[in-house]
Amino acid sequence: MGDIPRHHPVMLGESLELLAIRPDGRYLDCTAGLGGHTRAIAERLTAGGKIISCDRDAQSLEMARRNTAEFHDRIEFRQASFSELAESNLDGLIADLGVSRYQLTSPERGFSFQAEGPADMRMDQSRGVTAAELLNHSAEKAIAGWLHQYGEERRARKIAGAIVRARPIRSTLHLAGVVERAAPRTGPLHPATRTFMALRMVVNREQEELDALLERAPRMVRPGGRIVIISFMSLEDRKVKESFRELKRTGRAIILTKKPLEPSEKEVRENPPSRSAKLRAVEIVNHQQSNVTEEHQSHGHPGTHLQSANRRENPLPRRTGRYGHDLRGGFIRRRGRVHFARTAQRLHLLLLEEDR
Ligand SMILES: C[S@@+](CC[C@H](N)C(=O)[O-])C[C@H]1O[C@@H](n2cnc3c(N)ncnc32)[C@H](O)[C@@H]1O
Repeated sequence: MGDIPRHHPVMLGESLELLAIRPDGRYLDCTAGLGGHTRAIAERLTAGGKIISCDRDAQSLEMARRNTAEFHDRIEFRQASFSELAESNLDGLIADLGVSRYQLTSPERGFSFQAEGPADMRMDQSRGVTAAELLNHSAEKAIAGWLHQYGEERRARKIAGAIVRARPIRSTLHLAGVVERAAPRTGPLHPATRTFMALRMVVNREQEELDALLERAPRMVRPGGRIVIISFMSLEDRKVKESFRELKRTGRAIILTKKPLEPSEKEVRENPPSRSAKLRAVEIVNHQQSNVTEEHQSHGHPGTHLQSANRRENPLPRRTGRYGHDLRGGFIRRRGRVHFARTAQRLHLLLLEEDR
């Protein structure tokens, strides 16, 4: 491994703000990459805090380790994919999806159609099937389906036919040439862009992995803890959005980003690959599904008996929300009406409604 590539962690300021780092907290970075987000979180921790930094790619993990040397007392590195994560009681979790600049620009990893290398594309090179193996042994129809579904490639059938006729696919440039001849350039994108993206997603089972992350993350984070996910593809952002909405609907989280945040113009200027980033965040309020919305409706009026019940039932320490309100529970004025929320979770939900 040579020099460590220069790296701009995407939407770093926004991520840190939304994670609301507690210096003694426990965090999980699911996508260590070059260690950019891990490092910034570790910098904000005291010796009592900890960040677990995971990546399924052993080489990336090694670079993250080298990029964060001053903070190793607070970082635990682990090679793991999303579907293998099983932490609990975290104060926050971040995932910055996709591939890193290092992966994209290392010809030997096979992600780039601009440099000669093996058509590998595995993030974890210790297991799984390479892109070349997939292309050389799969049915034409299956290949066309992947290009269409994951690459949203309109010329999927044409390209799949050309790939099958050109077998065996020997390398990245061989594959890029086959695609380019079958579907010549019509716009600014290189004609092989969508094919390479789709194959990368299939080789790494990226959709299934994201599903696993979205299913596990809310259980790994304690109530009051936060989840931040940065995605780069509309397919992924849609999944994140739907999953967060479902958490909200079932009373398990409040959404902190009504619309996805996007990088500033300055960030895009300084780091053009950040331009398609979308960041969404939630705060977990409850691990169980709750019927709080219906209950809230039936408690539409304040009552002193509820207020005293609130004091008894409220075990949480005082915590102030971003509007300076007490997050433990109590009354809230909303659209001219006073509502009562018995616990912090319920008050959170009311505030969420307010945010919308
Ligand atoms: C965009 S990079 C992360 C960059 C990192 N945030 C930084 O600032 O350096 C994405 C990383 O996530 C890893 N990754 C992608 N999918 C993964 C999965 N399912 N499980 C674990 N790691 C994954 C990739 O190997 C890659 O290193």
